[in-house]
Amino acid sequence: MTPLLYTLPGNEPLAAALLRELGAEAGTLEVRRFPDGESYLRLHTSPAGREVVLVASLDRPNEKILDVYFAATLARELGARRVGLVAPYLAYLRQDARFRDGEAITSVHFARWLSGFLDWLVTVDPHLHRHPSLDAVYGIPSAVASAAPAMARWIRAHVAEPLVIGPDAESAPWAARIAAAADCPHRVLEKRRHGDRDVEIAPVELGAWRTRTPVLIDDIVSTARTLIAAIAQLRAAGMTRAPVCVGVHALFAGDALEALRAAGAALIATCNTVSHATNAIDISAELAAAVRDVLGRRQVPTPGIDRGQ
Ligand code: R5P
Repeated sequence: MTPLLYTLPGNEPLAAALLRELGAEAGTLEVRRFPDGESYLRLHTSPAGREVVLVASLDRPNEKILDVYFAATLARELGARRVGLVAPYLAYLRQDARFRDGEAITSVHFARWLSGFLDWLVTVDPHLHRHPSLDAVYGIPSAVASAAPAMARWIRAHVAEPLVIGPDAESAPWAARIAAAADCPHRVLEKRRHGDRDVEIAPVELGAWRTRTPVLIDDIVSTARTLIAAIAQLRAAGMTRAPVCVGVHALFAGDALEALRAAGAALIATCNTVSHATNAIDISAELAAAVRDVLGRRQVPTPGIDRGQ
């Protein structure tokens, strides 16, 4: 059955690419605001009996998630067979523990909420640290697309003599994979975060690699303080070429982009999971493969996970 794809506002370029890759039908979803800021939604294409795909990246999630909830609930109410969400950037994964008394573990709360009104979920490189997989928190089937192959292709095509650099221990396996696919060496730095905009990277010894082009990779570029601190250490280590920064999710909060450029990033390239001026790496083919994968499965909710219903 041909899936019916509705695009939430702001996701048009990636949704168009996904439509082509999937051979899906474009559904018309009207979303607008009433004068008081509340949402109005209408499905002009009937979802009755259809496999519905909603496309909405969840950067700045608080502004966006209610419309996703309304669209999914409406599609279900109007008879959709299943309603899934393609969220190329999946928000609320970083607060994955109660670090201090009284804190909300929003990754769990958010997952429980989404699992209650969606039938499946597809995303790209979710920020999983203490949760081992999406299945550990989401009670619905999910599939994950990896941006690593597309990032490696981009590095091969655009960077001479690269040295891939992961900024922290969590990035180690990922940096190794990208470097292997880009056919170049890699190093992993040591990072400590003291606060939202306070990141420390330990000094590093680069030996003979000092003359290669440093390619810093990061899964999320939010304040860009991770990349900025890493650039300072690469400079201190005597790297002679200006660094290239390659990110998956281009959140770029506040002054992040200007600050990263001012820190000396020669080239900044991100994946199109979050629409941004730095998007240079298309991951729509990988996303479409993940959607085909999850649509091909029988619907089996994850045992033991509360779907919030
Ligand atoms: C951290 O664990 C992530 O992998 C990123 O390095 C981090 O989220 C980047 O954040 P920022 O750009 O604010 O330093």
